[in-house]
Amino acid sequence: MKLTVAQKIIKEHLVTGTMEKGTEIGLRIDQTLTQDSTGTMAYLQFEAMDVDRVKTKKSVAYIDHNMLQAGPENADDHAYIQTVAKKHGIYFSKPGNGICHQVHLERFSVPGQTLIGSDSHTPTCGGIGMLSIGAGGLDVAVAMAGGEYFITMPSMVKVELKGKLKPGVSAKDIILEVLRNFTVKGGVNKIFEYCGEGVKSLSVPDRATITNMGAELGATTSIFPSDENTRAFLKAQGREDVFMELSADEGAEYDEELVINLDELEPLIACPHSPDSVVKVAEVAGKKVNQVAIGSCTNSSLTDMMKVAKILEGKTVAEDVSLVISPGSKQVLNMLAENGALAKLVAAGARILESGCGPCIGMGQAPKTDAVSLRTFNRNFKGRSGTVSADVYLVSPEVAAVAAITGVITDPREYITDFSDIAIPEKYTVNDNLVVSPAEDGSSVEVVRGPNIKPFPKGGALAENLVGKVLIKVEDNITTDHIMPSNAKLLPYRSNIPYLADHCLVPCDPDFPSRAKENGGGVIVAGTNYGQGSSREHAALAPLYLGVRAVVAKSFARIHRQNLINNGIVPLVFKNEADYDTIDLLDELEVANVKGQISGSSLVLVNKTKGLEYEMEIDLTERQQKMLEAGGLLNLMKESNK
Ligand code: F3S
Repeated sequence: MKLTVAQKIIKEHLVTGTMEKGTEIGLRIDQTLTQDSTGTMAYLQFEAMDVDRVKTKKSVAYIDHNMLQAGPENADDHAYIQTVAKKHGIYFSKPGNGICHQVHLERFSVPGQTLIGSDSHTPTCGGIGMLSIGAGGLDVAVAMAGGEYFITMPSMVKVELKGKLKPGVSAKDIILEVLRNFTVKGGVNKIFEYCGEGVKSLSVPDRATITNMGAELGATTSIFPSDENTRAFLKAQGREDVFMELSADEGAEYDEELVINLDELEPLIACPHSPDSVVKVAEVAGKKVNQVAIGSCTNSSLTDMMKVAKILEGKTVAEDVSLVISPGSKQVLNMLAENGALAKLVAAGARILESGCGPCIGMGQAPKTDAVSLRTFNRNFKGRSGTVSADVYLVSPEVAAVAAITGVITDPREYITDFSDIAIPEKYTVNDNLVVSPAEDGSSVEVVRGPNIKPFPKGGALAENLVGKVLIKVEDNITTDHIMPSNAKLLPYRSNIPYLADHCLVPCDPDFPSRAKENGGGVIVAGTNYGQGSSREHAALAPLYLGVRAVVAKSFARIHRQNLINNGIVPLVFKNEADYDTIDLLDELEVANVKGQISGSSLVLVNKTKGLEYEMEIDLTERQQKMLEAGGLLNLMKESNK
C-alpha cells in the first residue's frame, strides 16, 4: 500500500488497532512536552502511577505560559515542575528559555518520531516531519509511563503548494488561506499533509508556522515531509545526526485535496473574533491600529524577527501604536542581540518582552478599551487578549511590522521589495544552559511541593457490589463549569484538588461537598447531556476526591464520560428516562456484582430505598472496562508497570 508521510509514521508506531480510517488506534510515543499551566496536573498524575523514570525517548517540561509572579503560586508551580522533572528523567526548560513549541522545534524535535504535548499547538513540530499531537495532561502522563496514546485513525488531506511566495507574502498567509477554505471546524479527525514544489521554498520555521496554526482547523495534526531544508535546519542547530528523509509514496491516496498557488497568494488577515474570518489585507487597509504584538508560538522564529527588524530599521513606531515583541526563544533573543537586530527593534520603539507566551494568553499587555490589536498569533477569540472590547486581527510578521510604523492596517507589499538576504543561518547560536538535565539517579532528588501542590486523588479498584447514596440530583445540561467552576479565584488552585473539591457542584447545590464527605461518597444522579462544555479533567477529579463512585444520567457529554471512566467513576445511562423521576436525594442505590455486569451492554441498578429496579446502559470497550475495574487509568498503568 502506498502511504502518506503521516501514515508511514503511524505504521511505525502502531501498537493497537489497524490503520483503518475512523477506528481507534494506539500509538507508541517517543517524546512528550508539557507547559506550566497543564504541567503540574500531568506530573501529579505521573507521580500517582508510581513509575520511577519516564519511558519515552525524551520528555521536556517547559515554563512559558504564566510568567507573572505577583504572588508565590506560579513560582511554587515552577519549583515543583523543576524538581519532579529532575527526579523522573525529564528535561526542564527554565522560565526565559522560550515558548515550548519554538524551543522544542529548535532543540528536541526529530523527523519520523511521535510527540504528544499537553498544549494544543504541539503540531508545530510537524514542520520538521514529526507526528506531533496536542493531548490531555493525563494522556501525556500515561505516555511518559510507557503507555500508548489512543486516537481515531484520521483521514488525510493533501495540501499541494504550487509556485513560490512573493515578497510581503509569507507562511502565515498560507495557513490563513487553508483556514479560509476549511474553517475552524473543517479539520476534525484529519491530518493535513503538505507537498508540492512550493514546499521546497519554505524553511522549517516557515513550515512550523503552518503546522502550528493548523491546530485552529481542529485537525489531529499537520505535517511536512523531511527533506534537504529539514537537514539544513537540523545542521544549523548542530543536530544533523537526527535527520532522516521522509516523503509520501508516489501515488499515496488522500481523502481530500486543496491546491494553493503561492504565486497568486496575497497578504491575508483573520478578522475578529475567529481565526477563519479571513479576508485580504487590502480589504481592511486603512483601519487605525492601537497595538501591534509580534511573537507567540506561531511567528517568533529568528527569520520572522529578522524580517521585522528589517522593516523597522531606521523607522519609528507610530505615535498611537504600542508595539510589543516577544522573541520565541532564548536562542532567538540571543542571536538578535548578537547580530544587532535587537538594537534596531529597540531604536524603533518596540517594547521587548521576555521569551514566553505573554500577551497571547492574556498574561500582560492587554490592549486598551475598544482597541484594534494586530497580532502575529494564532487565536483571536473575544476576550483572550484580556480586553473584552478589543478587536484582535491575526496577521503575518510583515503585516504587523508595517502597521506598527504606518499606524494603520497596510498591505505590506507597498513597503517590502526584497527579503532575499533573510534565511535561516548556517549556524544557530546553541547554548542550552537554561535546560536542566534530569538526574542520572533520581532517588535522592526531593520534589519541592509548595503549599498549593497536593497529591492527586486515586480511585480504588471496583468492589464486589457498588453501593452508595444519592448525593445530589441535578437537571439537564449540567456543564463542567457547574461541576468544577474555574473562575479567576479558583484557577491558581489547579494543583490542589482537596481545595477545589469544596467548590464541586456548588452552583447546583452548595451542600453537595459536605454531604458527600458526611456519607463517605456515593452517587450523582443527572439529566441529559451531563458534563457538557469542556474537557476539564477536574470535573471528574473533584467528585473522585469526594468519593463519588458512579454517575447515573439520562445521557453524557462524550469527553466527560471518558474522563469519568479514566478516573474510575462508573457512568450509567437510564434505558427508561422516566426512572429518573423515581429517585430522590439520599436514596440508596446498588449495582450487585458490578464487575460481572459492566462487561455487558446493560445492567441492573437497584434502588434499595424504594424497592425499584432500573435497567441501565453501560456499553464499554474492553479497555474502558479494565480501567473501571482497576479504579482508573492511573491504577491500570501502575498494575501494567509492575
Ligand atoms: Fe503560548 Fe499562545 Fe502558543 S499561549 S503555546 S504562544 S498559542
